[in-house]
Amino acid sequence: MSRSAHPAGPRHADVLTEGHYSAPPADLNALDPKVWAHTVSRTDDGVVRVGGIEVTRLAEEFGTPAYFMDEADFRERARAWRTAFGHDADVFYAGKAFLSRAIVRWLHEEGLNLDVCSGGELATALSAGMPADRIAFHGNNKSAVEITAAIESGVGRIVLDSFQEIVRVAHIAQSLGKRQRVQIRVTVGVEAHTHEFIATAHEDQKFGIALADGQAAEAVRRALSLDGLELVGIHSHIGSQIFDMAGFEVAARRVVSLLAAVRDEHGVELPEIDLGGGLGIAYTSDDDPREPHEIAKALGEIVTRECEAAKLRTPRISVEPGRAIVGPTAFTLYEVGTIKPLDGLRTYVSVDGGMSDNIRTALYDAEYSVALVSRTSDAEPMLVRVVGKHCESGDIVVKDAFLPSDLAPGDLIAVPATGAYCRSMASNYNHALRPPVVAVRDGEARVIVRRETEEDLLRLDVG
Ligand code: LLP
Repeated sequence: MSRSAHPAGPRHADVLTEGHYSAPPADLNALDPKVWAHTVSRTDDGVVRVGGIEVTRLAEEFGTPAYFMDEADFRERARAWRTAFGHDADVFYAGKAFLSRAIVRWLHEEGLNLDVCSGGELATALSAGMPADRIAFHGNNKSAVEITAAIESGVGRIVLDSFQEIVRVAHIAQSLGKRQRVQIRVTVGVEAHTHEFIATAHEDQKFGIALADGQAAEAVRRALSLDGLELVGIHSHIGSQIFDMAGFEVAARRVVSLLAAVRDEHGVELPEIDLGGGLGIAYTSDDDPREPHEIAKALGEIVTRECEAAKLRTPRISVEPGRAIVGPTAFTLYEVGTIKPLDGLRTYVSVDGGMSDNIRTALYDAEYSVALVSRTSDAEPMLVRVVGKHCESGDIVVKDAFLPSDLAPGDLIAVPATGAYCRSMASNYNHALRPPVVAVRDGEARVIVRRETEEDLLRLDVG
């Protein structure tokens, strides 16, 4: 996407023709509660704190860059999903958003289930005590080793993604003397693109089995015919960072129509449907996410209505939010390094991390907010691009934002809403050491994933 350059003039003017900000916010020191974790606030002396601890203290103790996670906020959001869906539904947290043993324990304590999509995620979940029957195993190309580990550990369900996998899972289950509970993941023909959904060609989907051309019905036929499988339901996941409920409603309607077709053909009423994850969060003040209770109400109503119309018993619904639970609960804290004003364009602010701790901007053109958090400032706003320290010009953390024009090396800035798909997608590019995740709660800070060290890097280098 091209962006028009700023015509000659002051850097803080309303200069952008595309992108998020058209003008600086009224108050650069304000922290919009929509994008910051719940316990984040500014103290009287201007320093931002989270969980009762000032970021300056956190930086001293844990270094930068680092992710700080508001544990109380995580638990609150997990609980809000659990409460909204009640006892007739299940909430599976999508571990791909961010997973560690502490997270598994929090989820367990708050009554959530867990969706994993690799042997590594499964091992993490089991090692932290998540009961296997509360784990769902996903993936479009699970290995025989992963399938065996999942079945042996007793996972509650495996979500089947292809015809080969139906046979493979049935075969492995049978050879282990087990009957595995499974769901079939279908592609319902809607593709969600953040604020919208569009019909999509099924052959362009890596995931799932298409509903429209009868493939999904055929998959059900095969799964029902195999002794190693207990087919319990149908699964649909339409995408991620979605704000519009319409895509979920279409998906729910189409999944229920498959249940009706299965009942008509086989005389079997499948007892479960899973409508996946994908609910959007606020990365900037312009985003307006839906609350869990609104989502639960909308999905519950549509499934009930469609089932009544088809004279089906209402199945047990499950959902798989990842980002919506963990995303808003963390921010990344960086120290400002070099500052490079480019006349008539913008000011490049380099931080001590970058695309190795947040690849989302480079990968998805994602938008983020940023704030000066080690002090307040009354200086004029300046248009900035926050960039990392990697050897790529695409190493951008925040494409366009405003920071005070007296910003100086050594200041701490923070990027909110980095709890999901940042640490979990972090890399060692340029042999960067992946930052720690520190949980903060009630005045106490605890490392839950430690910072990588050079020894960690060298341990793998055995040449
Ligand atoms: N269930 C299934 C089957 C999924 O594939 C996903 C995400 C989820 C649940 C959770 O979706 P969420 O509620 O977190 O949106 N790396 C991308 C997002 C990839 C999502 C992959 N699947 C990003 O950073 O935006």
